[in-house]
Amino acid sequence: MQYQVFTDYDALSEHAAQFMLELVRQKPTAVICVASGDTPLGTFQKVVANALPNDFAEATFVALDEWVGIDPQNPGSCRSYVEKPLIEPLKIPAERVCFFDGMATNLAEECARVNEFVARRGGLDLIFVGIGTNGHIGLNEPGSSFENYAHISDLQDVTIAGGQKYFQDATPLTQGVTLGLRHFLEAKTAIVIANGPRKKGIIGRVLNEPINTALPASVLHQHPNGYLWVDEAANAKN
Ligand code: F6R
Repeated sequence: MQYQVFTDYDALSEHAAQFMLELVRQKPTAVICVASGDTPLGTFQKVVANALPNDFAEATFVALDEWVGIDPQNPGSCRSYVEKPLIEPLKIPAERVCFFDGMATNLAEECARVNEFVARRGGLDLIFVGIGTNGHIGLNEPGSSFENYAHISDLQDVTIAGGQKYFQDATPLTQGVTLGLRHFLEAKTAIVIANGPRKKGIIGRVLNEPINTALPASVLHQHPNGYLWVDEAANAKN
């Protein structure tokens, strides 16, 4: 795992955006998985601002996860957090985007559908994610097996409480559907980004703790092409 610290959120976002743009310029048919949440928003904004007209003409996106029971149109849904700032401005057509439907009546089938979408395109070229304060990647909560592909996950209280920031009103969250850590390990490149002092503690844990399922983000150490990029405020190394 390569660890890199950037002066601030803007510099971190700029670096991540340039990485993504380079990827699609080298491999126009790249399959890219992106997380929702606040952390990637700066990157999305810079990707959109700097993309040339044909950069994403053949690329495919997969959204990392979704809250179970949340309408995809809800502004707090994971889908909205990826679709509004990234997919819509880049004008990616529906056939080149995959979102989990957290309202699917059969969630196991929904996970199988997303697994199939990824597998049929030859896997992920890039998985680009944030990190929860409990170390989750996507909605792979502590205890998630590194062998999982897409699956249903029971959310920890800290994730349920933290997830409220995306919604205008108090919103019952209990489960999520998410790509698995096996997707993370099998992606050609894996990037975890974090910013702000709230993430410093968990970044310290990722840097110092051994690989173990109690700390999902420790999976990054096992990735042959894994990067952990943080801003100075989240830096946990002197
Ligand atoms: C969201 C996701 C989550 C977030 C994490 C950090 O799709 O996968 O794992 O990346 O909870 O959230 P933010 O970026 O809002 O701090």
